[in-house]
Formats: sequence, structure tokens, C-alpha cells
Amino acid sequence: MLRLLLIVGILEKMKDLRLDKFLADRLGCTRKESRILISTGNVFVNGIVNKDIGSKINPSDEVIHNGKKIDYGNKYYYFIINKPGGCVTATADNLHKTIFDLLPPYFVKLKIMPVGRLDIDTVGLLLFTNDGKLAYRLLSPKREVYKTYIAKTDKILNDNELKKLKYGIDIGDIVTKPAKIVSIDNKTYKLEICEGKFHQVKRMFEAVGANVIELKRTTFGPLHLDIPVGEYRELTLDEISNLYECCNLEKK
Ligand code: URA
Repeated sequence: MLRLLLIVGILEKMKDLRLDKFLADRLGCTRKESRILISTGNVFVNGIVNKDIGSKINPSDEVIHNGKKIDYGNKYYYFIINKPGGCVTATADNLHKTIFDLLPPYFVKLKIMPVGRLDIDTVGLLLFTNDGKLAYRLLSPKREVYKTYIAKTDKILNDNELKKLKYGIDIGDIVTKPAKIVSIDNKTYKLEICEGKFHQVKRMFEAVGANVIELKRTTFGPLHLDIPVGEYRELTLDEISNLYECCNLEKK
């Protein structure tokens, strides 16, 4: 856990990183010294000499000083995005915008990938990471990581239908595990499930004769959606620790 905090601590400091600060931190020199190195043409960013002391870099940039690549010192990244409707959870698509069109190019370069998928018309919380072990655990049916969905439907469900969704319902390929469901408005329901089968929420409602008209994911395990549609942010140290805890994973 200590190592996790250290790694992520470095990562935290990587936000909006100024080149002069990055160099000072990594080379162990003062900010004044790193500015001299930059302004005198001793620093290359992506193969080009960079004399701008105020310039910013991101984790996909290659910074070279004295012929040596300067390491970022961190390996894993964790972000959430509030996915808008109309884009697919894929790296490429011939017809539609993809989620990566909303994200900086270093996501693809550093293999920071979505953990699971949301349908093209589903909005809400999508987790991204390049921490494959964590992603695998979070998606494993064994771990029963809960996700919350707000589903606007075209039907008011009766008690019997709500019970079916709650205790498990046959959706064709599986009988769903117990879920939590509450009515929050006329035909709108909050559904919490710990599985992630293809179109699962829509198929669960279809199984009781309702069509989902709008679908939004508001939680993923311990994470809560707190950013506007189309925006993304890095997770805090606490959120990353909570993710590890929720799927019973120890950071080595
Ligand atoms: N269930 C669905 O039906 N769609 C989603 O996008 C997510 C869960």
C-alpha cells in the first residue's frame, strides 16, 4: 500500500506539469537551474529543442537532457470520464465518434483503456486505466463490484416486476444476480447490479416489458460521477485505494 501511495503520489504531481518543475524534480536541481538548462537549449522534447521555460508536458512526451531520456517515474494512470451519448466505447469506429475523440492522444499511446463499456446511447461514469490487473479484477464476476444506473423507462413497474428485477430475472443467457432497485420518479428507476453482461440493464427491463429510454451510470464500485458530461479527471489517491480495496487487491 505504501508503494501504491508513493507511485500515485508521483502521478498526482504529474498534473499540468511544467517542464521546468519536471526537470527540477527529476534531476534534483533547483527550479532556477532547470530554467537555465531549458533556456540554453539543453533540453529536447519529442526530438526538438525546447527553450520555453513555461511550456507544459504530458506523460506521452519524451524529454531528453544530456542525451538521456528522463523517466516519469510512474506507471499507472486512473481517470474517470462522464461519457456523453453518441460516442462508442472503442478505440476506432467507421461510423461514430469514439470516447477517445474526447481524450488527449496519450490515452491511446499509454494504453489507458476503458474498464468495461457503455452503449453508444448510455451516458455517465466510465473508468479508464492502464493498470490491467486492477481492470481485470474490477470486471471479474467473482468480485461483484456494484454499478448504479439511472434508467428512464416507458412503463411504471408493479411490485411483482420490481421483485423480479430485485431477486433475479432470466434475460436469455443468464438469470441475473440479486440487484437493488428503487423507483425514483414516475417511470425512472435506480438499479444497482454487480454484473456487466452485454446490454444487461436494458435486457433486465425488457424482461419485465419495459423499454429503457435513457440510461446513465452514476457509480462504479466506490467511484461516484461528479463531473460534467464530456469531461474527465484523474482519480484521487483515496479513490484509487478504494478501488483496490473493493476488489480485494493488494498493490505489490
Ligand atoms: N447496461 C446496458 O444495457 N447498457 C449499458 O451501457 C450499460 C449497462
